[in-house]
Amino acid sequence: MKLCMIGTGYVGLVSGVCFADLGNEVVCVDNNISKINLLKKGKIPIYEPGLSELVAKNFKNKRLNFSSDLKKSVRESDIIFICVGTPTKKGGSSADLSQIYNVSKEISSSINKFKIIITKSTVPVTTGDEIEKILSKKNNKKKFSVASNPEFLREGEAIRDFTYPDRVVIGTNDKKTGKILKNLYSPLISKGASYLQTSRRAAELIKYASNAFLATKITFINEIANLCEKIDINVEDISIGMGLDKRIGGRFLRAGPAYGGSCFPKDTKAIISTADKFKTNLSVIKSVIKSNENRSKILLDRVYQILNKKIRKKKITFLGVTFKANTDDMRDSSSLKMIPWLSKKGAIINYFDPTGLKKEFSKLKNVTHQTTIKSAIEGSDLVIIHTEWNDFKSINFKNLVKGKKFIIFDMRNIYSSSKIEDQGFRYYSVGK
Ligand code: UDX
Repeated sequence: MKLCMIGTGYVGLVSGVCFADLGNEVVCVDNNISKINLLKKGKIPIYEPGLSELVAKNFKNKRLNFSSDLKKSVRESDIIFICVGTPTKKGGSSADLSQIYNVSKEISSSINKFKIIITKSTVPVTTGDEIEKILSKKNNKKKFSVASNPEFLREGEAIRDFTYPDRVVIGTNDKKTGKILKNLYSPLISKGASYLQTSRRAAELIKYASNAFLATKITFINEIANLCEKIDINVEDISIGMGLDKRIGGRFLRAGPAYGGSCFPKDTKAIISTADKFKTNLSVIKSVIKSNENRSKILLDRVYQILNKKIRKKKITFLGVTFKANTDDMRDSSSLKMIPWLSKKGAIINYFDPTGLKKEFSKLKNVTHQTTIKSAIEGSDLVIIHTEWNDFKSINFKNLVKGKKFIIFDMRNIYSSSKIEDQGFRYYSVGK
Protein backbone atom coordinates (compact mmCIF):
# COMPACT_ATOMS: atom_id res chain seq x y z
CA MET A 1 0.00 0.00 0.00
CA LYS A 2 1.32 3.40 -0.95
CA LEU A 3 0.49 6.28 1.35
CA CYS A 4 0.19 9.97 0.57
CA MET A 5 0.12 12.58 3.33
CA ILE A 6 -1.18 15.98 2.20
CA GLY A 7 0.17 18.76 4.40
CA THR A 8 3.56 18.59 6.12
CA GLY A 9 2.68 20.29 9.42
CA TYR A 10 2.80 18.45 12.74
CA VAL A 11 0.14 15.93 11.86
CA GLY A 12 1.17 15.10 8.28
CA LEU A 13 4.90 15.08 8.77
CA VAL A 14 4.97 13.12 12.01
CA SER A 15 2.36 10.58 10.84
CA GLY A 16 4.02 10.23 7.41
CA VAL A 17 7.47 9.61 8.84
CA CYS A 18 6.13 7.17 11.44
CA PHE A 19 4.15 5.24 8.80
CA ALA A 20 7.34 5.01 6.71
CA ASP A 21 9.23 3.78 9.75
CA LEU A 22 6.64 0.99 10.08
CA GLY A 23 7.66 -0.17 6.59
CA ASN A 24 5.18 1.67 4.33
CA GLU A 25 6.04 3.65 1.23
CA VAL A 26 5.03 7.24 1.95
CA VAL A 27 5.04 10.51 0.05
CA CYS A 28 4.51 13.74 2.01
CA VAL A 29 3.04 16.52 -0.10
CA ASP A 30 2.91 20.26 0.46
CA ASN A 31 2.14 23.19 -1.83
CA ASN A 32 4.96 25.13 -0.17
CA ILE A 33 7.80 24.27 -2.57
CA SER A 34 10.56 25.77 -0.45
CA LYS A 35 9.39 23.67 2.52
CA ILE A 36 9.53 20.53 0.37
CA ASN A 37 13.03 21.43 -0.84
CA LEU A 38 14.18 21.94 2.74
CA LEU A 39 12.68 18.60 3.80
CA LYS A 40 14.51 16.87 0.95
CA LYS A 41 17.72 18.33 2.37
CA GLY A 42 16.84 16.93 5.79
CA LYS A 43 15.83 20.32 7.26
CA ILE A 44 12.79 20.02 9.52
CA PRO A 45 10.47 23.05 9.66
CA ILE A 46 9.12 22.26 13.15
CA TYR A 47 10.71 21.57 16.52
CA GLU A 48 9.85 18.01 17.51
CA PRO A 49 12.28 15.83 19.47
CA GLY A 50 13.46 12.80 17.46
CA LEU A 51 11.79 13.85 14.21
CA SER A 52 14.84 14.86 12.16
CA GLU A 53 16.62 11.55 12.87
CA LEU A 54 13.55 9.58 11.79
CA VAL A 55 13.15 11.67 8.62
CA ALA A 56 16.82 11.18 7.70
CA LYS A 57 16.64 7.42 8.26
CA ASN A 58 13.49 6.83 6.19
CA PHE A 59 14.44 9.28 3.44
CA LYS A 60 17.75 7.45 3.06
CA ASN A 61 16.12 4.04 2.82
CA LYS A 62 13.70 5.51 0.24
CA ARG A 63 10.50 4.63 2.06
CA LEU A 64 9.85 8.34 2.59
CA ASN A 65 9.71 10.98 -0.10
CA PHE A 66 8.59 14.59 -0.44
CA SER A 67 6.75 16.24 -3.30
CA SER A 68 4.86 19.40 -4.21
CA ASP A 69 2.98 17.59 -7.00
CA LEU A 70 -0.30 16.69 -5.30
CA LYS A 71 -2.05 15.20 -8.33
CA LYS A 72 0.81 12.87 -9.28
CA SER A 73 1.30 11.80 -5.66
CA VAL A 74 -2.42 11.02 -5.29
CA ARG A 75 -2.50 9.06 -8.56
CA GLU A 76 0.40 6.90 -7.38
CA SER A 77 -1.06 6.22 -3.91
CA ASP A 78 -3.73 3.93 -2.43
CA ILE A 79 -4.42 5.72 0.84
CA ILE A 80 -4.52 9.51 1.05
CA PHE A 81 -4.43 11.30 4.38
CA ILE A 82 -5.61 14.90 4.43
CA CYS A 83 -3.50 16.66 7.07
CA VAL A 84 -3.87 20.35 6.19
CA GLY A 85 -4.69 23.05 8.75
CA THR A 86 -8.18 23.76 10.09
CA PRO A 87 -7.59 27.05 11.94
CA THR A 88 -10.31 29.14 13.53
CA LYS A 89 -12.03 31.36 10.96
CA LYS A 90 -10.89 34.99 11.13
CA GLY A 91 -13.30 36.91 13.33
CA GLY A 92 -15.33 33.76 14.09
CA SER A 93 -15.19 30.62 16.18
CA SER A 94 -15.88 27.85 13.63
CA ALA A 95 -13.12 25.98 11.79
CA ASP A 96 -11.92 27.35 8.46
CA LEU A 97 -12.23 24.36 6.12
CA SER A 98 -11.08 26.06 2.91
CA GLN A 99 -7.79 24.11 2.78
CA ILE A 100 -9.66 20.82 3.28
CA TYR A 101 -12.08 21.53 0.46
CA ASN A 102 -9.39 22.86 -1.93
CA VAL A 103 -7.35 19.71 -1.44
CA SER A 104 -10.47 17.55 -1.92
CA LYS A 105 -11.10 19.21 -5.29
CA GLU A 106 -7.54 18.48 -6.37
CA ILE A 107 -7.81 14.86 -5.22
CA SER A 108 -11.07 14.56 -7.13
CA SER A 109 -9.39 14.97 -10.51
CA SER A 110 -6.68 12.40 -9.69
CA ILE A 111 -8.72 9.32 -8.80
CA ASN A 112 -7.52 6.75 -11.33
CA LYS A 113 -8.19 3.62 -9.21
CA PHE A 114 -9.84 2.78 -5.85
CA LYS A 115 -8.58 5.13 -3.15
CA ILE A 116 -9.25 5.67 0.52
CA ILE A 117 -9.31 9.34 1.44
CA ILE A 118 -8.92 10.01 5.14
CA THR A 119 -9.21 13.15 7.22
CA LYS A 120 -6.48 13.18 9.85
CA SER A 121 -6.83 16.91 10.43
CA THR A 122 -9.35 17.80 13.13
CA VAL A 123 -12.54 18.47 11.18
CA PRO A 124 -16.07 19.28 12.36
CA VAL A 125 -18.72 16.58 12.21
CA THR A 126 -20.12 16.14 8.66
CA THR A 127 -16.91 17.33 6.94
CA GLY A 128 -16.45 13.77 5.62
CA ASP A 129 -19.95 14.01 4.11
CA GLU A 130 -18.94 17.23 2.32
CA ILE A 131 -15.71 15.71 0.99
CA GLU A 132 -17.71 12.76 -0.31
CA LYS A 133 -20.01 15.17 -2.15
CA ILE A 134 -17.05 16.96 -3.75
CA LEU A 135 -15.47 13.67 -4.89
CA SER A 136 -18.80 12.31 -6.19
CA LYS A 137 -19.12 15.15 -8.68
CA LYS A 138 -16.36 13.70 -10.88
CA ASN A 139 -16.07 10.11 -9.67
CA ASN A 140 -18.15 6.98 -9.33
CA LYS A 141 -18.73 6.23 -5.62
CA LYS A 142 -17.18 2.77 -6.07
CA LYS A 143 -13.85 4.41 -6.89
CA PHE A 144 -13.28 5.94 -3.47
CA SER A 145 -14.11 5.79 0.21
CA VAL A 146 -13.92 8.71 2.64
CA ALA A 147 -12.93 7.85 6.22
CA SER A 148 -12.00 9.69 9.40
CA ASN A 149 -8.91 8.84 11.42
CA PRO A 150 -8.34 11.54 14.05
CA GLU A 151 -4.87 12.04 15.47
CA PHE A 152 -4.19 12.44 19.17
CA LEU A 153 -0.54 13.52 18.95
CA ARG A 154 0.83 15.89 21.55
CA GLU A 155 3.50 18.32 20.40
CA GLY A 156 6.84 17.36 21.90
CA GLU A 157 5.67 13.77 22.38
CA ALA A 158 4.32 13.21 18.89
CA ILE A 159 6.52 10.29 17.83
CA ARG A 160 5.89 8.39 21.03
CA ASP A 161 2.16 9.15 20.82
CA PHE A 162 2.06 7.84 17.24
CA THR A 163 4.03 4.70 18.05
CA TYR A 164 2.31 3.85 21.34
CA PRO A 165 -1.19 5.32 21.07
CA ASP A 166 -3.88 4.55 23.65
CA ARG A 167 -6.27 3.98 20.77
CA VAL A 168 -6.63 4.08 17.01
CA VAL A 169 -10.00 5.43 15.91
CA ILE A 170 -11.27 4.73 12.41
CA GLY A 171 -14.54 6.23 11.23
CA THR A 172 -15.99 4.44 8.23
CA ASN A 173 -19.19 2.70 7.32
CA ASP A 174 -17.41 0.70 4.62
CA LYS A 175 -16.26 -2.84 5.54
CA LYS A 176 -13.43 -3.00 2.98
CA THR A 177 -12.02 0.36 4.12
CA GLY A 178 -12.19 -0.72 7.77
CA LYS A 179 -10.25 -3.91 6.97
CA ILE A 180 -7.53 -2.09 5.02
CA LEU A 181 -7.05 0.55 7.71
CA LYS A 182 -7.01 -1.98 10.55
CA ASN A 183 -4.29 -3.79 8.65
CA LEU A 184 -2.33 -0.55 8.17
CA TYR A 185 -2.39 0.01 11.93
CA SER A 186 -1.82 -3.65 12.87
CA PRO A 187 1.82 -3.05 14.03
CA LEU A 188 0.49 -0.61 16.63
CA ILE A 189 -2.53 -2.71 17.56
CA SER A 190 -0.31 -5.74 18.16
CA LYS A 191 1.76 -3.62 20.57
CA GLY A 192 -1.33 -2.91 22.67
CA ALA A 193 -3.21 0.02 21.09
CA SER A 194 -6.98 -0.33 21.32
CA TYR A 195 -8.70 -0.27 17.94
CA LEU A 196 -12.11 1.31 17.60
CA GLN A 197 -14.15 1.42 14.43
CA THR A 198 -17.13 3.76 14.43
CA SER A 199 -19.24 5.71 11.97
CA ARG A 200 -17.37 8.51 10.21
CA ARG A 201 -19.32 11.20 12.04
CA ALA A 202 -18.65 9.58 15.43
CA ALA A 203 -14.89 9.50 14.75
CA GLU A 204 -14.97 13.19 13.85
CA LEU A 205 -16.74 13.98 17.11
CA ILE A 206 -14.51 11.72 19.26
CA LYS A 207 -11.59 14.04 18.50
CA TYR A 208 -13.40 17.23 19.53
CA ALA A 209 -15.04 15.63 22.56
CA SER A 210 -11.65 14.29 23.75
CA ASN A 211 -9.90 17.63 23.46
CA ALA A 212 -12.81 19.47 25.06
CA PHE A 213 -12.82 16.98 27.94
CA LEU A 214 -9.06 17.33 28.53
CA ALA A 215 -9.43 21.12 28.45
CA THR A 216 -12.24 20.75 31.00
CA LYS A 217 -10.05 18.65 33.30
CA ILE A 218 -7.27 21.25 33.25
CA THR A 219 -9.67 24.13 33.79
CA PHE A 220 -11.37 22.25 36.61
CA ILE A 221 -8.11 21.71 38.51
CA ASN A 222 -7.07 25.33 37.87
CA GLU A 223 -10.27 26.51 39.56
CA ILE A 224 -9.76 24.07 42.45
CA ALA A 225 -6.21 25.50 42.72
CA ASN A 226 -7.71 28.98 43.20
CA LEU A 227 -9.72 27.63 46.12
CA CYS A 228 -6.71 25.78 47.59
CA GLU A 229 -4.74 29.04 47.68
CA LYS A 230 -7.40 30.60 49.91
CA ILE A 231 -7.63 27.75 52.43
CA ASP A 232 -4.01 26.59 52.77
CA ILE A 233 -4.35 23.28 50.93
CA ASN A 234 -1.87 21.87 48.40
CA VAL A 235 -3.64 21.32 45.07
CA GLU A 236 -1.21 18.51 44.25
CA ASP A 237 -2.70 16.48 47.11
CA ILE A 238 -6.11 17.04 45.57
CA SER A 239 -4.91 15.95 42.09
CA ILE A 240 -3.40 12.78 43.54
CA GLY A 241 -6.44 12.06 45.69
CA MET A 242 -8.81 12.55 42.78
CA GLY A 243 -6.61 10.77 40.26
CA LEU A 244 -6.44 7.57 42.30
CA ASP A 245 -10.11 7.07 41.45
CA LYS A 246 -9.88 5.11 38.21
CA ARG A 247 -13.03 6.80 36.96
CA ILE A 248 -11.18 10.12 37.07
CA GLY A 249 -7.53 9.26 36.38
CA GLY A 250 -4.54 11.32 37.45
CA ARG A 251 -3.36 12.75 34.13
CA PHE A 252 -4.16 16.29 32.97
CA LEU A 253 -4.78 17.40 36.52
CA ARG A 254 -1.71 19.64 36.77
CA ALA A 255 -2.68 23.17 37.78
CA GLY A 256 -0.84 25.98 36.02
CA PRO A 257 -1.29 28.81 33.55
CA ALA A 258 -4.15 28.85 31.04
CA TYR A 259 -4.04 25.93 28.61
CA GLY A 260 -2.81 26.93 25.15
CA GLY A 261 -1.41 25.42 21.97
CA SER A 262 -2.73 24.71 18.53
CA CYS A 263 -5.59 22.43 19.59
CA PHE A 264 -7.47 23.01 22.85
CA PRO A 265 -8.36 26.71 22.32
CA LYS A 266 -9.31 26.14 18.67
CA ASP A 267 -11.17 22.85 19.15
CA THR A 268 -13.24 23.94 22.16
CA LYS A 269 -14.49 26.93 20.12
CA ALA A 270 -15.14 24.79 17.04
CA ILE A 271 -17.20 22.14 18.87
CA ILE A 272 -19.45 24.89 20.24
CA SER A 273 -19.85 26.30 16.77
CA THR A 274 -20.81 22.83 15.46
CA ALA A 275 -23.28 22.37 18.33
CA ASP A 276 -24.82 25.79 17.58
CA LYS A 277 -25.35 24.63 13.99
CA PHE A 278 -27.32 21.68 15.33
CA LYS A 279 -29.11 23.82 17.94
CA THR A 280 -27.43 22.21 20.97
CA ASN A 281 -26.09 24.15 23.94
CA LEU A 282 -22.70 22.89 25.19
CA SER A 283 -22.79 24.98 28.35
CA VAL A 284 -19.98 23.12 30.14
CA ILE A 285 -17.49 23.72 27.32
CA LYS A 286 -18.61 27.36 27.07
CA SER A 287 -17.76 27.80 30.76
CA VAL A 288 -14.39 26.12 30.25
CA ILE A 289 -13.46 28.60 27.51
CA LYS A 290 -14.52 31.53 29.67
CA SER A 291 -12.68 30.24 32.72
CA ASN A 292 -9.51 29.60 30.71
CA GLU A 293 -9.68 33.08 29.17
CA ASN A 294 -9.80 34.49 32.68
CA ARG A 295 -6.90 32.38 33.92
CA SER A 296 -4.09 34.72 32.83
CA LYS A 297 -5.86 37.61 34.56
CA ILE A 298 -5.95 35.62 37.83
CA LEU A 299 -2.23 34.81 37.61
CA LEU A 300 -1.38 38.40 36.70
CA ASP A 301 -3.33 39.56 39.71
CA ARG A 302 -1.16 37.29 41.84
CA VAL A 303 1.95 38.85 40.28
CA TYR A 304 0.54 42.27 41.21
CA GLN A 305 -0.02 41.14 44.83
CA ILE A 306 3.39 39.43 45.06
CA LEU A 307 5.04 42.69 43.94
CA ASN A 308 3.09 44.70 46.54
CA LYS A 309 0.98 46.32 43.81
CA LYS A 310 4.04 47.97 42.24
CA ILE A 311 4.82 46.76 38.71
CA ARG A 312 6.37 49.92 37.23
CA LYS A 313 10.16 49.60 36.80
CA LYS A 314 10.13 46.11 38.36
CA LYS A 315 12.49 43.69 36.65
CA ILE A 316 10.57 40.54 35.80
CA THR A 317 12.07 37.41 34.23
CA PHE A 318 10.14 34.78 32.30
CA LEU A 319 11.73 31.33 32.18
CA GLY A 320 10.00 29.67 29.22
CA VAL A 321 7.42 31.39 27.03
CA THR A 322 6.08 28.55 24.84
CA PHE A 323 2.66 27.09 25.71
CA LYS A 324 4.32 23.98 27.12
CA ALA A 325 7.73 22.28 27.20
CA ASN A 326 9.45 20.49 24.29
CA THR A 327 7.93 22.67 21.60
CA ASP A 328 8.78 26.03 20.01
CA ASP A 329 5.07 26.67 19.50
CA MET A 330 3.78 30.00 20.79
CA ARG A 331 0.19 29.58 19.63
CA ASP A 332 -2.20 30.69 22.37
CA SER A 333 0.58 30.56 24.96
CA SER A 334 -0.48 32.38 28.12
CA SER A 335 2.80 34.35 27.94
CA LEU A 336 1.25 36.21 24.98
CA LYS A 337 -1.24 37.73 27.40
CA MET A 338 1.02 38.13 30.41
CA ILE A 339 4.13 39.72 28.91
CA PRO A 340 2.31 42.49 26.94
CA TRP A 341 0.21 43.34 30.01
CA LEU A 342 3.23 43.60 32.29
CA SER A 343 5.16 45.61 29.69
CA LYS A 344 2.23 48.02 29.40
CA LYS A 345 2.24 48.46 33.17
CA GLY A 346 5.90 49.53 32.99
CA ALA A 347 7.74 46.32 33.94
CA ILE A 348 11.19 45.63 32.50
CA ILE A 349 11.06 42.08 31.18
CA ASN A 350 13.78 39.58 30.33
CA TYR A 351 12.88 36.21 28.96
CA PHE A 352 14.75 33.01 28.20
CA ASP A 353 13.33 30.07 26.29
CA PRO A 354 15.28 26.97 25.18
CA THR A 355 13.82 27.49 21.69
CA GLY A 356 15.20 31.01 21.44
CA LEU A 357 13.93 34.46 20.56
CA LYS A 358 10.23 34.98 19.84
CA LYS A 359 9.17 37.49 17.20
CA GLU A 360 5.86 37.92 19.07
CA PHE A 361 7.61 40.11 21.65
CA SER A 362 9.97 42.03 19.37
CA LYS A 363 7.84 45.19 19.21
CA LEU A 364 7.08 45.35 22.94
CA LYS A 365 8.67 48.05 25.08
CA ASN A 366 11.31 46.86 27.54
CA VAL A 367 11.02 43.18 26.64
CA THR A 368 14.41 41.58 25.99
CA HIS A 369 15.38 38.09 24.93
CA GLN A 370 18.31 36.60 26.85
CA THR A 371 20.38 33.68 25.65
CA THR A 372 21.11 32.13 29.04
CA ILE A 373 19.16 31.47 32.23
CA LYS A 374 21.83 33.34 34.20
CA SER A 375 21.67 36.53 32.11
CA ALA A 376 17.86 36.39 32.19
CA ILE A 377 17.63 36.27 35.98
CA GLU A 378 20.50 38.60 36.90
CA GLY A 379 19.21 41.75 38.62
CA SER A 380 15.65 40.47 38.59
CA ASP A 381 13.00 41.34 41.18
CA LEU A 382 10.70 38.48 40.21
CA VAL A 383 11.44 35.28 38.29
CA ILE A 384 8.37 33.62 36.75
CA ILE A 385 8.73 29.96 35.77
CA HIS A 386 6.17 29.93 32.98
CA THR A 387 6.98 26.71 31.08
CA GLU A 388 7.99 23.37 32.57
CA TRP A 389 11.17 22.77 30.52
CA ASN A 390 13.60 20.26 32.08
CA ASP A 391 16.22 23.04 31.82
CA PHE A 392 14.47 24.84 34.70
CA LYS A 393 13.96 21.86 37.01
CA SER A 394 17.28 21.82 38.87
CA ILE A 395 18.49 25.40 38.94
CA ASN A 396 20.60 26.34 41.94
CA PHE A 397 19.43 29.95 42.07
CA LYS A 398 21.72 30.82 44.96
CA ASN A 399 24.88 29.70 43.14
CA LEU A 400 23.80 31.01 39.75
CA VAL A 401 23.26 34.59 40.83
CA LYS A 402 25.30 35.83 43.76
CA GLY A 403 24.03 38.71 45.84
CA LYS A 404 20.57 39.99 45.02
CA LYS A 405 17.66 37.86 46.16
CA PHE A 406 14.65 37.81 43.93
CA ILE A 407 11.16 36.40 44.34
CA ILE A 408 10.26 33.23 42.44
CA PHE A 409 6.74 32.57 41.13
CA ASP A 410 6.67 28.96 39.92
CA MET A 411 3.54 28.73 37.74
CA ARG A 412 4.21 25.02 37.00
CA ASN A 413 4.88 23.83 40.56
CA ILE A 414 8.29 22.45 39.57
CA TYR A 415 9.97 23.08 42.94
CA SER A 416 9.10 22.41 46.55
CA SER A 417 8.85 25.58 48.60
CA SER A 418 11.28 24.33 51.25
CA LYS A 419 14.01 23.67 48.65
CA ILE A 420 13.81 27.23 47.34
CA GLU A 421 13.25 28.91 50.69
CA ASP A 422 16.34 27.14 52.07
CA GLN A 423 18.32 29.02 49.41
CA GLY A 424 16.95 32.24 50.87
CA PHE A 425 14.38 33.16 48.24
CA ARG A 426 10.70 34.02 48.63
CA TYR A 427 8.77 31.39 46.69
CA TYR A 428 5.21 31.27 45.35
CA SER A 429 3.55 28.49 43.39
CA VAL A 430 0.08 27.62 42.10
CA GLY A 431 -2.71 26.16 44.21
CA LYS A 432 -0.79 26.07 47.49
C1 UDX B 1 -3.30 18.29 22.56
C2 UDX B 1 -3.87 16.89 22.86
O1 UDX B 1 -3.28 16.38 24.05
C3 UDX B 1 -3.63 15.98 21.67
O2 UDX B 1 -4.22 14.70 21.94
C4 UDX B 1 -4.30 16.63 20.48
O3 UDX B 1 -4.32 15.85 19.37
C5 UDX B 1 -3.65 17.97 20.20
O4 UDX B 1 -3.84 18.79 21.35
P1 UDX B 1 -0.95 19.52 22.65
O5 UDX B 1 -1.69 20.76 22.24
O6 UDX B 1 0.32 19.20 21.96
O7 UDX B 1 -1.89 18.22 22.48
O8 UDX B 1 -0.62 19.68 24.19
P2 UDX B 1 -1.02 19.02 25.59
O9 UDX B 1 0.15 18.30 26.13
O10 UDX B 1 -2.28 18.29 25.51
O11 UDX B 1 -1.22 20.35 26.47
C6 UDX B 1 -2.18 21.34 26.11
C7 UDX B 1 -2.18 22.45 27.13
O12 UDX B 1 -2.67 22.00 28.37
C8 UDX B 1 -0.82 23.07 27.43
O13 UDX B 1 -0.96 24.47 27.55
C9 UDX B 1 -0.41 22.43 28.74
O14 UDX B 1 0.50 23.21 29.47
C10 UDX B 1 -1.76 22.34 29.41
N1 UDX B 1 -1.83 21.31 30.48
C11 UDX B 1 -1.78 20.00 30.17
C12 UDX B 1 -2.01 21.71 31.81
O15 UDX B 1 -2.05 22.91 32.12
N2 UDX B 1 -2.16 20.76 32.76
C13 UDX B 1 -2.11 19.43 32.49
O16 UDX B 1 -2.27 18.64 33.41
C14 UDX B 1 -1.92 19.04 31.15
